[in-house]
Amino acid sequence: MSGPILAIETSCDETAAAVIGRTSEPGRPWTILSSIVASQTAIHREWGGVVPELASRQHVRDICGVVEAALENAGVSAADLSGIAVTQGPGLVGSLLVGVAFAKSFAWSRGLPVVPVHHLAGHIESLVLAHGELPLPSAVLVVSGGHTSLYFIPDTGHYQLVGRTRDDAAGEAYDKVAKLLGLGYPGGPVIDRLAREGNEHAFDFPVARLTHADRNAPKTTAPAGLLPAEVARRVDFSFSGLKTAVLRLVRDLTGAPARGKAADADALGAMLTRQQAADIAASFQRVVVTVLLDRTFEAARWLGARSIGISGGVSANSRLRAEADARSAHYGIPVFVPPLSLSTDNAAMIGAAAMRLIERGAVGDDYGFNAEASLALGQ
Ligand code: KG4
Ligand code: ZN
Repeated sequence: MSGPILAIETSCDETAAAVIGRTSEPGRPWTILSSIVASQTAIHREWGGVVPELASRQHVRDICGVVEAALENAGVSAADLSGIAVTQGPGLVGSLLVGVAFAKSFAWSRGLPVVPVHHLAGHIESLVLAHGELPLPSAVLVVSGGHTSLYFIPDTGHYQLVGRTRDDAAGEAYDKVAKLLGLGYPGGPVIDRLAREGNEHAFDFPVARLTHADRNAPKTTAPAGLLPAEVARRVDFSFSGLKTAVLRLVRDLTGAPARGKAADADALGAMLTRQQAADIAASFQRVVVTVLLDRTFEAARWLGARSIGISGGVSANSRLRAEADARSAHYGIPVFVPPLSLSTDNAAMIGAAAMRLIERGAVGDDYGFNAEASLALGQ
């Protein structure tokens, strides 16, 4: 498989296709020949979040045009391709199935191999696509709407899970708080913007400290002893308490009854002044960014990491990027974040993770795999 590969990503609400080629530079092994993303945000905004059934139908409508555009922009024809990469999971199963079925049929009709890819491996390899190989070992935080997971990368293509959220993902917390403030969907970018007008010390939201072991921990995680048990607990995340604290504050500020229906909460945002909403956004964001970076830097120190990576949709956050740079300079450890185009979901990162699997010889030659909504990585 030396020619370019076509990559497809349909795990949530973006239909994406990209063509990825190889370079002759070992430190910067892959290059993006094209990357197309058709976002469904406008469709889901009306409902305040992603509606799975609408998402899969829209993927069906968009996938052919998106793939055609990716091939055309790259200036390659299907005959030039050496394989097809596709996100196998995790994600919405109906959405994943569109990409998987498309990839298998396209590949089968051309006699090409298909490489199933883990979505989070894609977010991790997006860093290499953007910056070249990271100094290893590395600690990489994948922080998105569906995940907040901290990985140790001892060697290229090896992902060991060392920390994760016990409840909501950070991006999910952004989306829920934005909904509560009446700011619309997706919440990350709007809170990011509004927070610039607010006082981040206006409200003191709690930081969840996890003192007990994770009873729902996956059976096998990173190798035993990689982190001392007490540190392993400290580098887990929890965002549901923070979301509830914001809800309580909004009820206090608006004089709404403490035990209203959750649905009523959505209307409360409209009763806040713009300054109150901005102060809440900034104070919420300060806590999220501090928690994410405190735990990532602490894990990196214990792991002896030579670099830190932060990827996934929330890595687009301007406050997170600025604070990560400042800490990088302070602690003398390089921190890598992808450009905005590679932070949120895209297919180029899926192509990169497939290239990694191909290099490692970890690719089978059958089409027997299926979409998996809760596919694990590094467990
Ligand atoms: O990686 P992604 O595109 O999809 C998943 O795999 O989940 O991440 C989407 C998430 C959403 O929750 C969105 O609100 C968040 O990333 N996000 C942001 C920003 N841009 C997107 N969160 C904070 N600040 C941003 N600027
Ligand atoms: Zn993602």
